[in-house]
Amino acid sequence: MINVITYKEEKDVRLIDQSCRLHNTAFPYDCVECNIYTSFTLNDENFDQELNLFAVDEENRVRGFLLGVEIVKEPKEAVEKFKEYIWIKDLAIDPTLPPDTWRAVFMNLLSIFEEMVKKRGKKCIVLHAYAPYYFMPGINILYENYVEVFELYGFRKQEDTVSYEVNLAEFYYPSRVRKIEQTLLSEGITFRRGREEEAVLISEWVGKTFNNPFWRLEVLHSFDSKPPTIWIADQSGDTIGFAVYLRMKRNEFGPTGVDPSKRRRGVGTILLFKALYDLKQLGFRYAVIPWTSHLFFYTQVPGVCRVKHYHIMVKTI
Ligand SMILES: CC(C)(COP(=O)(O)OP(=O)(O)OC[C@H]1O[C@@H](n2cnc3c(N)ncnc32)[C@H](O)[C@@H]1OP(=O)(O)O)[C@@H](O)C(=O)NCCC(=O)NCCS
Repeated sequence: MINVITYKEEKDVRLIDQSCRLHNTAFPYDCVECNIYTSFTLNDENFDQELNLFAVDEENRVRGFLLGVEIVKEPKEAVEKFKEYIWIKDLAIDPTLPPDTWRAVFMNLLSIFEEMVKKRGKKCIVLHAYAPYYFMPGINILYENYVEVFELYGFRKQEDTVSYEVNLAEFYYPSRVRKIEQTLLSEGITFRRGREEEAVLISEWVGKTFNNPFWRLEVLHSFDSKPPTIWIADQSGDTIGFAVYLRMKRNEFGPTGVDPSKRRRGVGTILLFKALYDLKQLGFRYAVIPWTSHLFFYTQVPGVCRVKHYHIMVKTI
């Protein structure tokens, strides 16, 4: 017998821990450390106990789960724009279940969730791509059994996105890049780490310059680390570019951006290499550059060893 309960009913953090283990079994190319998984779930400003569903067996073991979320608090600039949206931040089913049970648990979680979604007056369900607390920027197309059920249930691909994996043992700072840095320095463009007291100033600059409230939040979080895990490019006292690393305390690079009038001169490249070099020095063996579409900007990085392809899938109610 498998029953579906919500986090509101049990309020037991072990439900999240077991879900993380299921996630890592089901999605080996997108594994997440369980302390991060718990924090991305419970410390998400938009966490809603009712939207987190767990399919548990007689021994109270999680055999499937669905973590749902809507934007109600942060980023505050996005609340109105996304009021008709809801996300399935993660969903996984125990692969050791017999195939029929596996599918039945999957469908049951989706249909209970859809009822909740309708009651809340939402029009769109988005899979996985929920910034900044995402575990996958969409559904990795390698997980065909999941894609198949989502399609059957009415989800359709809306966008392609990729993540790069960098083997940091093979990463270095090439002399080609040092030369670009020298040229930029001679033009008065300097590179430095962010300072604690600039958290609000820089994060708001990013939010406005790139019209992206999610990036504002990710940049703000990069100032929680001591020292802040963000590189800044300045010219004549103005900020002209930024690159976050250790994104949300993970081995990730990004977001990054350069003022539109200063692009294609190498500023983005220097920020990228400095940030990846820091990740290597901090002791990470691999770095991930998640949720992007840029090709040559990232393939210039020595050590790129895998490209992961995701579909951002949406169901319109
Ligand atoms: C992606 C981004 C950060 C790159 O910044 P940038 O300062 O333009 O980066 P670079 O100048 O180092 O490289 C960009 C391109 O200019 C080229 N370039 C670099 N120096 C150059 C030079 N001196 N002359 C001509 N081209 C040059 C690079 O080869 C690269 O080519 P590509 O666009 O074909 O990949 C920037 O375009 C941006 O802010 N985009 C919007 C935000 C965004 O998409 N961020 C990434 C999300 S993952």
